[in-house]
Amino acid sequence: MIKKVKTSQLRAGMFVHDLDMGWMEHPFLLKRFKLTGKDIEKILALKLREVYIDTEKGLDTDSGTDIADVRTEVQKRIEEASVTPPPPPAAPSRFDTIQKVPVKEEWFRANKIRKESLQIVSNLMADARLGRQIETDHLDTVVEGMMQSVFSNQDALLGAMRIRTMDRYTFEHSVSVTVLVTAFCKSMGMSSDAIREVAIGGLLHDIGKSRVPSGILNKPGRLTEEEFSVMRQHVDFGGEILEASDISDISRGVVMEHHERYDGSGYPFSKNNETISLYGRMAAIVDVYDALTSTRCYHQGKSPHWVLSKLIEWSKYHFDPELVQRFIRCVGIYPVGTLVVLKSGRLAVVIELNEGNLLAPIVKVVYDKNKRCHLPTMRLDLAQQTTVPADKIVGSDVPDTYQLNMEAILSV
Ligand SMILES: [Fe+2]
Repeated sequence: MIKKVKTSQLRAGMFVHDLDMGWMEHPFLLKRFKLTGKDIEKILALKLREVYIDTEKGLDTDSGTDIADVRTEVQKRIEEASVTPPPPPAAPSRFDTIQKVPVKEEWFRANKIRKESLQIVSNLMADARLGRQIETDHLDTVVEGMMQSVFSNQDALLGAMRIRTMDRYTFEHSVSVTVLVTAFCKSMGMSSDAIREVAIGGLLHDIGKSRVPSGILNKPGRLTEEEFSVMRQHVDFGGEILEASDISDISRGVVMEHHERYDGSGYPFSKNNETISLYGRMAAIVDVYDALTSTRCYHQGKSPHWVLSKLIEWSKYHFDPELVQRFIRCVGIYPVGTLVVLKSGRLAVVIELNEGNLLAPIVKVVYDKNKRCHLPTMRLDLAQQTTVPADKIVGSDVPDTYQLNMEAILSV
């Protein structure tokens, strides 16, 4: 049986099935292994709270929760999240009057903003690498465009950011985090001034990586313990790079706190609970969501739906549980860019949410799993079907398995 046990219950001779620590690099060579006393010390030093063990391959314990029960509980909480009403706006926003437009109307502007933002982050990191003073004044313009686009239809920019190239990960991740956190702030009813500051923090959140040697930053494989500790320094480096800049406390909070964890297990300050700013707690969720859904040279991106399920699970300790629920309400149960499996055996990519029914988004049908063949791309609004029986989502998958051209599919 696979069960989840508290790390305080671990004993040598148990068999680790999953360390369940997908949000961070770790120094273990194998994913699944028989535990020694030294391994347990390492696990406790990493401040892991729970891991999965396989009781057929190693020792058992009386405590723990069956993996099936964990999954049932997570599913229940995802469904609760989908019906969580948004909080009332904290302050009137100057974007309140923007009328929502269809994704295809917003697509052109979204792509232009994507390109401009990538260039800006690339320039900022190049300046930081050369030890030049970072100029943050011109970030206002690109952030303004991003906010306009998110308020017009966030799914256009969120979809555009799912188009990734593996060699530009740091830039694309920075911009993607910014778009996600902007949409997250909007869904929380924050003022436009606060959203702008959080977005600036998003663009700058990994600026400290410019000082991490590229051999470590772009290493095509698992980092050693020493390399990992250098990587973790990127937050302090970011603080140093931005020391002389006049960015706001909100923006600085995003940069300095995006690796803090709700239970105090993060870095660099091991802050916990509400000692981490609201913006830092939001950025932590978004940062992990984007990192895990992205394909890199040594890591295949996970399905957004799967990552949301794990965020729910991890929010027991590591992330603010209420904010994780709010994030799911913002991006949807099946976020834009998710490859979903339909009851008919067809595969489809989510291109736009139906706010009134997060279980039935608008998709593009692309593949037939039964016949194992690509299909002519067809738009399908799962909430507005005329065929009987109506199709519905039964699961999610990852695009890489089917050699899908996500750029072409996501382009409207
Ligand atoms: Fe980071």
